[in-house]
Amino acid sequence: MRFEAFNRRAAEQRADCLVIGAFERGELGPIASGVNSALRGRIASLLSRGDFSGRAQETLLLPEIAGLAAPRLLLVGLGARAQYNRRHWRRALQSAIAALARTRIASAALALERPAARELDDYYFGRASAEIAGAALYRVNDLKSARRARPPALSRVRVGPVDADALAAVRRGLAAGEALVQSSSLLRDLANLPANVCTPRYLANQARELQRSYRQRLRVRIFDEVGIRRLRMGCFLAVTRGSEEPPRFIVLEYRGTRARRAPVVLVGKGVTFDTGGISLKDPQAMDEMKYDMCGAATVLAAMDYVARARLPLNVVGLVPACENMPDGRAIKPGDIVTSASGQTVEILNTDAEGRLILCDALDYARRYEPEVVVDFATLTGACIIALGHHQSAVMGNDEPLARELVEAGNRTDDHAWPLPLTEDYAEQLRSNFADMANIAGRDGGAITAAAFLGKFTSGMRWAHMDIAGTAWTSGKEKGASGRPLSLVADFLSRRAAS
Ligand code: BES
Ligand code: MN
Ligand code: ZN
Repeated sequence: MRFEAFNRRAAEQRADCLVIGAFERGELGPIASGVNSALRGRIASLLSRGDFSGRAQETLLLPEIAGLAAPRLLLVGLGARAQYNRRHWRRALQSAIAALARTRIASAALALERPAARELDDYYFGRASAEIAGAALYRVNDLKSARRARPPALSRVRVGPVDADALAAVRRGLAAGEALVQSSSLLRDLANLPANVCTPRYLANQARELQRSYRQRLRVRIFDEVGIRRLRMGCFLAVTRGSEEPPRFIVLEYRGTRARRAPVVLVGKGVTFDTGGISLKDPQAMDEMKYDMCGAATVLAAMDYVARARLPLNVVGLVPACENMPDGRAIKPGDIVTSASGQTVEILNTDAEGRLILCDALDYARRYEPEVVVDFATLTGACIIALGHHQSAVMGNDEPLARELVEAGNRTDDHAWPLPLTEDYAEQLRSNFADMANIAGRDGGAITAAAFLGKFTSGMRWAHMDIAGTAWTSGKEKGASGRPLSLVADFLSRRAAS
């Protein structure tokens, strides 16, 4: 998919289809008014006849309208004019792309009314346009035996009209968004694959593929079980014990600047399937535990993004990958193991496995003397109870870092909300037999999980994102959402620029 910006009048755009928006009650914004005049009022009369209501998600494709450079016009409902904001713009863009994807239209000029500049500046207008259009065209890489439906024909999208002085910023945004679309479909493809395909070894091979694509800038190292043992990652090894499928510890090092700047380290939970282990899960929707590697997929996709966009920044990705299975060799509640940090852990619930693989990876991050460390994990059901499916949770030991992530989420509509990680929570992890237990009861479960990780990150600036509620959607539209890649990409871009 190619994205460009245009700065001539919308009615003059040559493309297979021109796309404009109309508000409810026949109201037209400045762009549609311009097109309406070029068409001598024919849009206004169509609206006054009631052929198009302007409600959100409504679309109407009109062929062969004389007066336009394009052979077709797609009308998109924008909702009530008084309420029009970035959310409505986003929805309208999604509906427009969905309608175009049902046709054989290959090129489109998108000229939807823009929300107020304070809501969406030129750079983010470009970035979000490409991101939303790309995401709306994503198709699950299913394994259905029937012949696959033809992919949408849409391959060239222009957005505008953009004033001459704003063109550069919009183009930078489009380029960022275009890179994001690629990285995002990598993330979603990996996440959507079943666990019998997407194993720890499969993730490791994906990392090797990234190295092949970005040879100069990206170095990949893979540790197998023997290597992981040498690293003394006792907690990680405890989780993988019950699995026939071998674990991998994946290290990706991206050098985007010659400067001796300390790297940003990203850590992602890569449990390719979480049965709960001996503390077996309820069978209800257990298939969705193939998504328990979404943190890992986020990190791989983020590494793809930084290398693709050539961000002038050093970034390290760390992915502990394994399954969590019940078996004769599996860990049992009450088992005590020693983490790479030397601290001992009493495993009271084998289903609290994410923190066990992450704590050893977080300890590994130390050797980089990182600028900051951020981990991503589908860590707790409690996070979903706390925040639902709209916001990821952010915790950590560094207020400004947490704020950076929250703000990146606000700029990209990939929202995240802080939860309080005060010292009291860590005290709940007390154990009679080891330095700590791996669980602390039901209450505040998202925070006590973070408190556990906090015991391995002292002295580093660290943030933890719990993406259990946001990484995928359940139900009829089951599938990976691609979150929180947009947030992460923006967070890293800002850091690269500072
Ligand atoms: N992967 C799960 C968390 C999860 C559950 C994410 C459902 C998304 C949807 C994690 O490994 C887990 O099982 N956590 C336990 C922790 C508990 C045993 C302290 C949980 O949340 O129930
Ligand atoms: Mn679990
Ligand atoms: Zn899990």
